[in-house]
Amino acid sequence: MTEFKPLVFSGVQPTGNLHLGNYLGAIRKFVALQENNDCIYCVVDMHALTAQLVHEDMATQIRSITAAFLAAGIDPEKHIVFNQSQVPQHAELAWIFNCVARIGWMNRMTQFKDKAGKDREQASLGLYAYPSLMAADILVYRATHVPVGDDQKQHLELARDIAMKFNMDFHDKIVPTGLGIDIKVGEEPVHAYFPMVEPLIDGPAPRVMSLKDGTKKMSKSDPSDLSRINLMDDQEAISKKIRKAKTDPDALPSETEGLKGRPEADNLVGIFAALADKSKADVLSEFGGQQFSVFKPALIDLAVDVLAPINAEMRRLMEDPGHIDAVLRDGGERARTRAEKTMNEVRDIIGFVR
Ligand code: TYM
Repeated sequence: MTEFKPLVFSGVQPTGNLHLGNYLGAIRKFVALQENNDCIYCVVDMHALTAQLVHEDMATQIRSITAAFLAAGIDPEKHIVFNQSQVPQHAELAWIFNCVARIGWMNRMTQFKDKAGKDREQASLGLYAYPSLMAADILVYRATHVPVGDDQKQHLELARDIAMKFNMDFHDKIVPTGLGIDIKVGEEPVHAYFPMVEPLIDGPAPRVMSLKDGTKKMSKSDPSDLSRINLMDDQEAISKKIRKAKTDPDALPSETEGLKGRPEADNLVGIFAALADKSKADVLSEFGGQQFSVFKPALIDLAVDVLAPINAEMRRLMEDPGHIDAVLRDGGERARTRAEKTMNEVRDIIGFVR
């Protein structure tokens, strides 16, 4: 049985400062995955229009995410780094997926409900269709693996539903064109054009929580800057935010079981583990029984060790926007070639004349 060639794809929106959640939930994994995989990493600028149409500093934001990718260690020559709007095939496939996805599926998306808030009538149509564009981002390359934080899980399930419905509805067109590949869906081999994408959400920090409230996700939109560590924070800011991070009065437990019901402790231990490439159990075997007054300084040292070089390199790269733009242009060109191949096949499957 032939299978899809493994291909990693992921994207980050150019909205607001990147924070530790974006780094640990996504970018750090992007870096690790490039060792053994073909990877495509995208600054999803078209997604950034969905919540807010006009961005005064769009170009700077796009460059800053790109700088973070490069500073963290992504190699744009071996892999592909580009911004979404340079590859119009994403939007073209998204339109087809808008016609594949059902309104009932979109209505279940919790992120739409959260972002649209109470006044749903005033949300953009783009915000509603957002997960369909996200599915197109991935499937226009027929990518198989998608590293993301836990908050994107539902969107990736939708991408699988879209792929599955396309494969089934066009099955009689896919088979004679010979464009599909045999994949296993459960125990059954199925001849499919699009793969069933696998989310890569594992690791000790799939959902980094606010430093001020361990039950809330660390997010760009939290009004309190003390709730998050930004990738551009200097040593002093990192140290202050961790010192002020909410904790409980107890010592750290020796086993992960003991983190249950202690969201702040769980979060800080998860952050430590992810930064040190260890498991939470490893961290607790070192710090179990210790007070936060001992653990927090160790966490500050570790966070500064990991983040300071990234921060410095981002600043250096941001001084040369011409270089960043050249990286994006080169990546965009290579991405377009791959995406156009898929689109030609999709046009043939659908029966568009070309
Ligand atoms: P975005 O830009 O909101 O976030 C980028 C990545 O960071 C992860 N993340 C977190 N991980 C752990 N803890 C947190 N507190 C945290 N906050 C954010 C996100 O899960 C994400 O992986 N829809 C996506 C962008 C996107 C995309 C795609 C991703 C568009 N097309 C195709 C993968 C594949 C988003 O808004 O991410």
